[in-house]
Amino acid sequence: MQTSQMQSISSTSIVERYLAFFTGRGHLELPGSPLVIAGSTTSFTIAGMQPLLPYLRGQEMPPSKRLTALQRCLRTVDVDAVGTNERKLTFFHMLGNWSVGDYGKRGVIELALELLRDFGFERHSLWVTTFAGDPTLNLPPDEQTVEEWLRQGFPPERIVSLGVDDNFWTMGGPGPCGPDTEIFYDRGVELGCGKTTCQPGCDCPRFLEIWNLVFIEYDRFPDGSLARLPFLSVDTGMGLERVALLLQGVESVFETDLFLPAVARLTELAPVGVVGNSSVEQRARRIILDHTRSALFVGLEGIIPGRDERNSVLRRLVRRASRQGRILGIDHPFLGELVLLFAQGHSILLTEQERQCLHILPDMLTNEETRFAHVLTTGLKRLDKLIPGEDGLVSGEDLFKLHAEKGFPSDLAAEILAERGLQVDWSGYDRAFEQHREISRVSAERHFQS
Ligand code: GLY
Repeated sequence: MQTSQMQSISSTSIVERYLAFFTGRGHLELPGSPLVIAGSTTSFTIAGMQPLLPYLRGQEMPPSKRLTALQRCLRTVDVDAVGTNERKLTFFHMLGNWSVGDYGKRGVIELALELLRDFGFERHSLWVTTFAGDPTLNLPPDEQTVEEWLRQGFPPERIVSLGVDDNFWTMGGPGPCGPDTEIFYDRGVELGCGKTTCQPGCDCPRFLEIWNLVFIEYDRFPDGSLARLPFLSVDTGMGLERVALLLQGVESVFETDLFLPAVARLTELAPVGVVGNSSVEQRARRIILDHTRSALFVGLEGIIPGRDERNSVLRRLVRRASRQGRILGIDHPFLGELVLLFAQGHSILLTEQERQCLHILPDMLTNEETRFAHVLTTGLKRLDKLIPGEDGLVSGEDLFKLHAEKGFPSDLAAEILAERGLQVDWSGYDRAFEQHREISRVSAERHFQS
């Protein structure tokens, strides 16, 4: 069955069916955690397992050995990739089921295949990856998982073994982790890159990862070393937006039902074809949609755009989205309007309390956009005048001055220059930064003495 022949189901139905499937099989449904967890090692929740860490480490008794939840996640570490493909999002919903020392590899694979069949995914379009092992970390290949997939009738050519970067899941730092097996949907050879090496893990649109089954066997320490946990747990993550892409028969996550009201308004504000270069236009639309949706969920945590930590993440998202608006010819604040349309698209996924707080978000975004508009206008003019030197690099000192004198964010400046095929002399930038720091230090000392 091709995706277009699958029965289209709404994102909220996918959530309901997933949670009902697992609660019907002895899992306790937990409310999703906030995006900000006090004492967490990450600024925002990045995975569904994060709120469960004390259970996975055997430090606390879980309310049930089988758990399920819908978790909001925000990952901005690769924010630059948003817009370059049909699937990359900073904010996404992760559907998860967990076994805390209960079922293991066979159990989770059986459950996953049963639910995928219920959703209408045909077995012959599914591929899987497993962990190939890593001699430097002294980790063996995950042969047991390969055996389980073979036992389920998967042909060896659709079981791909990959290394630590692809199939060993960690939180990006310390914490529970382990080898994983990922389930991919083959969207068809016509979407492939055509390379002989094209397989799950390839960056092209053909193979879409839909579900990650992680075998939590280790705890990772800050120095990267691993210690075996007292028991094996299973942590799974299914990206709601990706599954919606397939089950709704659309080309990208940005065309799924959750995005529709905001997409419609954005198209009114900037009709399709407004930019000569269609890939620049597509990237701009995707960044605006992704970042505004993230701003909705970050804003609902009570975070406002600002200079520090989480506030700066929100500020960066708003500023990047605002700048892409300019590329589409939108010269007035518009994100406040879009954020409410995202709230409308996600209405069922918001709590009553969140729905009541929504009214503060448009002004918050509009104020940030307005503050940024002036900086952007003057900064863009100055950027236009920067020309690369003989070494082909744009002066880092000039870029630093743009930041120090006009408040123009250097990461954004570098991004704009990169879009024009230009690189920055970052060592010159660092030198200018150090000089500036020294001047500030001396002047602060003088000021203190006077
Ligand atoms: N915790 C599994 C995942 O985020 O993919």
